[in-house]
Amino acid sequence: MKKALVLALAGAMSLSLMACGSSASSTESATEAPAAETAAEETTEASAEAASEEQENEAAAFTTLTEGVLTVGTNAEFPPFEYVGDDGEPDGFDIALIKAIGEKMGIEVQVENMEFDSLVTSIGSKIDVAIAGMTVTEERQASVDFSDSYYDAVQSVIVPADSEIATIEDLQGLKIGAQLGTTGEFIIEDDIEGAEAATYNKAVDAVNDLINGKLDAVIVDRNPASVFAEKFPDDVKALNGEDFGFAVEQYAIAVPKGDTALLDAINAALAEVQEDGTFDALVAQYIEEGDASDEAASTEEASEEATEAAADETTEEAAAEATSAAE
Ligand code: ARG
Repeated sequence: MKKALVLALAGAMSLSLMACGSSASSTESATEAPAAETAAEETTEASAEAASEEQENEAAAFTTLTEGVLTVGTNAEFPPFEYVGDDGEPDGFDIALIKAIGEKMGIEVQVENMEFDSLVTSIGSKIDVAIAGMTVTEERQASVDFSDSYYDAVQSVIVPADSEIATIEDLQGLKIGAQLGTTGEFIIEDDIEGAEAATYNKAVDAVNDLINGKLDAVIVDRNPASVFAEKFPDDVKALNGEDFGFAVEQYAIAVPKGDTALLDAINAALAEVQEDGTFDALVAQYIEEGDASDEAASTEEASEEATEAAADETTEEAAAEATSAAE
């Protein structure tokens, strides 16, 4: 009997907690609640259900610039996270991720490809959110909010294949390229003594200038760095930024500052995508597949390139790079 009372009270309490949003069904259960132990238990269950339903409804109450559409800004110059696919449309890990998130949110996703440097200022006016391998930084947090982070990264240093650069001291006073408005640029300007930052709208253009001898190094996030370096294994190599003391960075989705409804909805959908295995499948598809790991050459073209590169070069390093290029 004592237990029944406690349960009934628990039921009544949770009902009163949600009194403001109470629906017909919860009022109904309230009258039933004190009846008996089983009834009280049912009520508690029912209230919990009603409460979680209410949470779901709350999470869905976000608004977007165009009703029913999540307009997403990206800069498709950052493989494997975003690049322009064969059909001319943005593709990549981030694009697939935001589409999966949109599906969970029950909203259509429209991707706008723009310059990286204008993403943050476009949030809330031209685009609802941005996904662009964007690192959470304090400076950006002054104008936007970030979702839970979904990927850890670090900057890489791309140098000529025969370069002996290995430490941050070696970079002092050099001319170093980076994509405009990225953390790579900030590192050159803030952390490398006497270095001159040369900025580009596309990181790949910086890599081309490095190959042409116009730059001493390029600083760009690890994954795109290996994609770029693997394209020109004879000319350049990508070095791990951790050996230069660069901090680990977290990628997250940027949302309008203070828009907690949209932020919560995105975080909830991201969590769902992570829990149901979609996220890992996308990592495998977009990030690991293109990685230099233990896989054998996956395409004829890649293996041809590797053979060529191996024939051209004599050092062990070059051979290793060639193998990476094949994968
Ligand atoms: N993670 C770096 C940053 O946030 C670079 C991101 C560049 N992303 C891109 N899609 N181009 O500054």
